[in-house]
Amino acid sequence: MVYLINKENFTTDAWTLEGFERELSLDYSRSYVMEMGGQVVGYAVVWIIHDEAHIMTLGIKKDLWGRGLGRKLLVWIIEDLRQSVSRFLLDVRVSNLRAIKLYKDMGFKILSLRYRYYSDGENAYQMCLELSDGDKGQEAKEGYISPRDS
Ligand SMILES: CC(C)(COP(=O)(O)OP(=O)(O)OC[C@H]1O[C@@H](n2cnc3c(N)ncnc32)[C@H](O)[C@@H]1OP(=O)(O)O)[C@@H](O)C(=O)NCCC(=O)NCCS
Repeated sequence: MVYLINKENFTTDAWTLEGFERELSLDYSRSYVMEMGGQVVGYAVVWIIHDEAHIMTLGIKKDLWGRGLGRKLLVWIIEDLRQSVSRFLLDVRVSNLRAIKLYKDMGFKILSLRYRYYSDGENAYQMCLELSDGDKGQEAKEGYISPRDS
């Protein structure tokens, strides 16, 4: 199901099934699966490298976009790793306004522009959330709801 959500969300950058399976055997990789009413509605894969959490992929089932689930998933991940890392990093297509808005709302800042980062030539923003910045992380904490409560 995670594979299918990823496939419907990403055209050129979709992960293969083998790619997702491989993640499960990597000790620095953590996989998150969000369920609602017994149905998988979202997922994320995060790499923990030293004190950094790299969000490698993240997605919500397309027909459920815009209901706050992406935000909830991100809050869950941040709270889960809050004690283990000092910052979150990710790359996002410059055209992905919905995701960029979500990340900015959560306190992420644009760190750099990665020129022609994607295979189709699109640029990426590298975005970063410094947990020591405190306030947004605190906001995430206050808004925390377990995805399984959704
Ligand atoms: C990005 C993604 C995870 C967001 O999930 P979501 O469940 O739709 O997110 P939310 O409902 O929590 O909304 C997040 C914000 O996007 C905003 N938003 C909604 N529709 C939007 C639109 N058309 N354009 C810009 N922003 C929009 C919402 O206003 C919301 O902010 P708010 O809470 O302040 O209102 C989801 O769209 C997705 O899976 N996209 C495809 C995969 C992807 O791009 N992943 C990120 C790669 S780095």
